Amino acid sequence: MTVNTVREIDKILEKLNNEQKKCVENLDGKFLVLAGPGTGKTYTVIKRLQAMILKGVEPERILCMTYSRAGADEMKKRVLEELDENNNNIEIHTFHSFCNKIIGEYAEELDVSSNIQLIPDSIKRALLKDCIDEIDDAQYYKSDKANKYSCFDSISTGIEYLKKYRINSLKKLEENINSDNDWIPAIKELENERDFKPNKRKDYEAHIQKIKDKISKVKELYRFYELYKEKMEYEGYIDYDDMINYILEKFEIDPVFTQKI
Ligand SMILES: Nc1ncnc2c1ncn2[C@@H]1O[C@H](COP(=O)(O)OP(=O)(O)OP(=O)(O)O)[C@@H](O)[C@H]1O
Ligand SMILES: [Mg+2]
Repeated sequence: MTVNTVREIDKILEKLNNEQKKCVENLDGKFLVLAGPGTGKTYTVIKRLQAMILKGVEPERILCMTYSRAGADEMKKRVLEELDENNNNIEIHTFHSFCNKIIGEYAEELDVSSNIQLIPDSIKRALLKDCIDEIDDAQYYKSDKANKYSCFDSISTGIEYLKKYRINSLKKLEENINSDNDWIPAIKELENERDFKPNKRKDYEAHIQKIKDKISKVKELYRFYELYKEKMEYEGYIDYDDMINYILEKFEIDPVFTQKI
């Protein structure tokens, strides 16, 4: 670092409070900024960016991601205002727009069609309804014979849950069932207790059966998920959760790809 760079960084640090300083001084590795509204979080991030650039990081190699579009827009605005023209070409995205961009640019390597599109809500609903029509023997989700679509919302939420926890194969589902404290481990514990309390056997049996039903229900949900996924893929659609999961998965299994990004 040149004397000039040190001076520039000192000038930034001078204006910061102690907590902000820690974040701007420690540029290696992770740093969590946790503070109330309007207390200078974004300001700290901007100063951190300035310090990184002064230390020689190329702006176009810096990636800023936020959850909301409003957050990303605010970051873009502040970067334009506070960083000079040569240094403001930082990548700023929401998590979704970042993943979407990578999917667009690397469709072939990701093994997705380059025409893949974000699924509109109306088509999402139509595809899920088709799944409900087609899975005839569903016991848990289609118990309401008068209105077979009354399960629509719970299936939709259930699918979101599977995606959120990235349960995207039967193997992962089984692993989850076997390790989740609410499921198989809970059954084992109850069976143990039951054997010690013969006079409460019936209560224990009922409780165990309830958990077994929950497991069967999640397995049934998985069938809806699989069919829905198949239909989405066939139609060339992707949803917001898929976008994130596609990229996360690729990053995990392919370090060469990750390096390139
Ligand atoms: N150390 C500081 N010196 C001078 N001004 C500061 C300092 N820290 C924050 N500010 C100013 O305080 C105001 C609020 O800061 P900022 O927008 O970064 O807060 P925030 O925590 O990101 O807010 P929000 O919760 O709304 O996102 C801004 O005008 C910023 O320039
Ligand atoms: Mg902010």
